[in-house]
Amino acid sequence: MNRISEDVIEKIRNTIDIVDVVSEYVQLKKQGRNYFGLCPFHGENSPSFSVSTEKQIYHCFGCGAGGNVFSFLMEIEGLSFLESVKLAAKRTNVELPDTLETHQTTNQSSRASKMIEAHELLKKFYHHLLVNTKEGEKPLEYLINRGITRETIDTFGIGYSPSSWDFATKFLQKRGFSLELLEHAGITIRNHEGKHFDRFRNRVMFPLWDLQGQVTAFSGRIIDSGEPKYLNSPETEIFHKGKNLYGFHLAKSHIRKKQQAILLEGFMDVISLHRAELPFSIATMGTALTDDQIRIIRRNVDHVTVCFDSDNAGIVAAYKASSLLRAAGCEVRVALMPEGHDPDDYIKKFGPEKFRTNVIGASLTLMAFKLQYFKRGRDLQDEADRISYIDEVLKEISALSKPVERDHYLRQLSDEFSISLDALKSQAYQQYKQQKKRDNVPSSRNNISTRPTMQSKMRPAYQNAERLLLAHMLRSQEVTEKVQQSLQGLFNIEEHSAIAAYLYAFYEDGHAPSVNAFISRVEEKELQRIISELSMLNINEDISQQELADYIKQVLNYPKLLKIKEKEQERRDAERKQEFVQAAQIQMEILQMKKELK
Ligand code: CTP
Ligand code: MN
Repeated sequence: MNRISEDVIEKIRNTIDIVDVVSEYVQLKKQGRNYFGLCPFHGENSPSFSVSTEKQIYHCFGCGAGGNVFSFLMEIEGLSFLESVKLAAKRTNVELPDTLETHQTTNQSSRASKMIEAHELLKKFYHHLLVNTKEGEKPLEYLINRGITRETIDTFGIGYSPSSWDFATKFLQKRGFSLELLEHAGITIRNHEGKHFDRFRNRVMFPLWDLQGQVTAFSGRIIDSGEPKYLNSPETEIFHKGKNLYGFHLAKSHIRKKQQAILLEGFMDVISLHRAELPFSIATMGTALTDDQIRIIRRNVDHVTVCFDSDNAGIVAAYKASSLLRAAGCEVRVALMPEGHDPDDYIKKFGPEKFRTNVIGASLTLMAFKLQYFKRGRDLQDEADRISYIDEVLKEISALSKPVERDHYLRQLSDEFSISLDALKSQAYQQYKQQKKRDNVPSSRNNISTRPTMQSKMRPAYQNAERLLLAHMLRSQEVTEKVQQSLQGLFNIEEHSAIAAYLYAFYEDGHAPSVNAFISRVEEKELQRIISELSMLNINEDISQQELADYIKQVLNYPKLLKIKEKEQERRDAERKQEFVQAAQIQMEILQMKKELK
C-alpha cells in the first residue's frame, strides 16, 4: 500500500499556505480576515468562496464546497488523496519517500500520464527536426517569413513533422509506447487494414498544452497552402478542445499581474501578441467559447478584451463571446481592426506599437461595440430599419446596471438620431419593466453583488444547536470534553455525530485544536464540507456554561419532543374513538414527558 506517514503529511500541511495554492486557480481578494473569490466549483457572479489563512481551510457559502489544501487539490484537479499530497509536496521542500514516485495510483491516470509522456517526447523531437536538421529548413523559413523568431519558436515549442508515414510511430514504439496507446493518444491513425500511420505529416507543429502546461495534443499547420490548413489531435482522454485555452499556462501569471486578459481566436494570434509584449493573451481554437472556457477565464480575471478576426464571422463570434463573458460577470471590451484583418497579420503589417495603441488601446466598451454591431445589415437611412435599430439598442441600454452608463448611451443615441432624450428615457424604462416581468426578478437592476451572500437557511433550533456545539468543539478541547460527557454521540443529525466521533478521537490522540489537521483525518468529503463551513461560522469564541448547557439541552430534547408529538397523535386518535380513559392516560404520560424536558 502507498502510505505517506502522518508526520510527512503534517509537515507539508504546515509548510504550505492554502491561499497561495488556491490563488493559482481563483483570483482572491482580501476582505477582513479572510480572502474571497468566485467559487471554482460552481458557476457564480458574486464571490461566495472564502479562504481562511488562519485556519488554512476554504469554504463556499454558495455550494457548500470546503476542506483544507489537500481537499482543494483533490477536487479541482480530480486527484486521489495521495496524488494531492504529492502535488502539494512539490511546492514545499518536504521530501517524500522515493517508493511513492515509482508507484502509480490508478490505471486510468497511469495511461493518461503515459499519453502525456509520448506527447512531450514527440514535441521535443519535432522541435529538434525543425531547428537542427536539413528537413526542417523549409518549415523554418516559412516561420521566419511569418515574423516568428527563434526565441518564439522555443517559447512555444514549435516543431516540424516530417513527410513520413511512420516517423512518429516508430520513434515512440522504440521507446516502449504501444500502438494501442499511440492510437488512443491520437498520435497515430489506424487504417481499415489495421495498419498504423502518423497523423501529422509535413506540417509545422504547435504543441497544445493543458491548463497545467503539459503537452496533451498538437495542431499541425500546412506549410503554405492546402487543406485542411490546421489539423488537430482528436478529443482524447487527455485532450478536450473545449476545456482548454491556447497559451493559458504561459499567460496565467501575466493575467494575474495585469488583472486583464486578451481573448483571441487563433493560436498564431497568441504567438504574435506575446511578441508584441502582450503576454496576457489566450485563445479559443477557432471554436465557439464554451462554458468551461468561460469558467476558466472568470476565475482568473475580471477584465477581458475580446480581439477576434475583423471579418464577418469573427465579429459575430466576438459579439457572442463578449455577451457570454459579460453574463458570467466579466468586464468586457472589444477590440476591432480594419475589415478583414486578424491580430497576427495586423501586427505584421502595422507593427506591435500600432496594435497596442490603435487596437487594444482603442478597444470599445461592450455597449459601444453593440451600438456598432446592431447597425450591421441595416440601412439607417431607412425609417423602419432605423426604428428597429433604436428599439434593439434601447433594450440593451435598459439592461445596463449603472444609471450613469444608461444616461451616457441614451444621450449618445439622442444626439445621433435627433430624438428627444425624454422620449428615449421613457421608452428605455418601458423596456426595463417588460424585461423584468419576463425574467420575474426582484426590482434591483443590479444583481451582481460584491458581498459574499451567506446562505441563510432556516434551520430548526436543535440543528442550529448541534452546529454551534460542533463549531465550538472544533475550537476548544475543553468544550469537546464537556459535550462528550453529557451528550456522547447523541447528535440527532448523523453527519454531526460522525464529526463528533472523529473529534473525540482527534483530541484523545493528543492533538491541539486545528481544523486543518482535523480535516485530514476525515475521509468523507461531505463531512469535510460541513467541518469547513462550521469553522467559518462567526461565533464568539467564549461560550458560557449556560449557553453550552442550553445547546446540549436542545439536542437532547429533540428526540423527546418527537416522542411527545407521537403521543399527542395517539391521544387524538383515542379521543376520536371515544376511548376517553385511555386518552386521559396518554395525556398524563405527555405531561410527565414535558416535565422531563426542563
Ligand atoms: N482552426 C482549425 N482548423 C482549421 C482552421 C482553423 O482548428 N482548419 C483553428 C486554429 O486553432 C486557428 C483558429 O482556428 O488558430 C483560427 O483560424 P484562422 O483565423 O483561419 O487561422 P489563423 O490564426 O489566421 O492562422 P493563419 O494565420 O496561419 O492562417
Ligand atoms: Mn492569420
